[in-house]
Amino acid sequence: MTNSHRKTIIAGNWKMHKTRGPARELSHAIVSGVKSESDKQDLPVIVVCPPFTSLQETHDALRGSHVHLGAQNMDYRESGAFTGEISPTMLTELGVKYVIIGHSERRQFFGETNSTVNLKLKAALAHKLIPIVCVGESLDEREANLTDAVVRRQVGAALADLEDDQLETLIIAYEPVWAIGTGKNCEAPEANRVAALIRSTINDHFGTPSGQGLKGDGSRHALGDIVPILYGGSVKPSTIEEQMEQPDLDGALVGGASLKSEEFLPIIEGAKKRVRLSCSKV
Ligand code: PGA
Repeated sequence: MTNSHRKTIIAGNWKMHKTRGPARELSHAIVSGVKSESDKQDLPVIVVCPPFTSLQETHDALRGSHVHLGAQNMDYRESGAFTGEISPTMLTELGVKYVIIGHSERRQFFGETNSTVNLKLKAALAHKLIPIVCVGESLDEREANLTDAVVRRQVGAALADLEDDQLETLIIAYEPVWAIGTGKNCEAPEANRVAALIRSTINDHFGTPSGQGLKGDGSRHALGDIVPILYGGSVKPSTIEEQMEQPDLDGALVGGASLKSEEFLPIIEGAKKRVRLSCSKV
């Protein structure tokens, strides 16, 4: 395995589900499920992303636990006459640490483009939020053999004007649109192939690594090699183990199966093997 230096991350995207009471219940169930696990060393980084209106409730329920708080979207501006929008500062003030950017549902239904994704990514980094940037092709694009071109374009556009040291906290999620909420999984080796393509796109974009990612022997990892890449699209307890055996997949962004602790906890459990394999190589 070549992934020993990257974290394993399991993030739940609750989408437009969970009012405050149900958000609190689900958070408590996840926290106590994680607590009852005997070995904390094996835990992946766990993130849950409730809707804005349940952020405070979820934050309070997660307090003191191993589970981190994320948001599903944000505006890139600081404040102003932008009715209905939420700024990065409004998120950090609520204890939000992670933010999903450019989810395909935002691109499809709310007019987000590669350039707004880039603006949001830069704003998130400026506010020390950890961005989870989503990329992925539609079914039509896959059938027209455009997967690689689309993903390369989305990644390149998202990264425009970033400095290489800003990649240290970046997370990318490969989410083929046709696999989201459909029960249709992208085969794990194919998801791995696209994740590797994302890494090489990052390397092409930044050229020779200069900044970070020190290896044990003092040499440097290529930048594409330090960015955790998650897979998203109908992830379930039954799919996670094979996905986590892929060398270029570092975790999962989970939608439907993150809404019930009976499904989300086994996904966390399934990711532990990768944490153990990673740790053993450090
Ligand atoms: P899904 O959603 O797991 O329900 O397919 C994933 C996502 O949209 O992030």
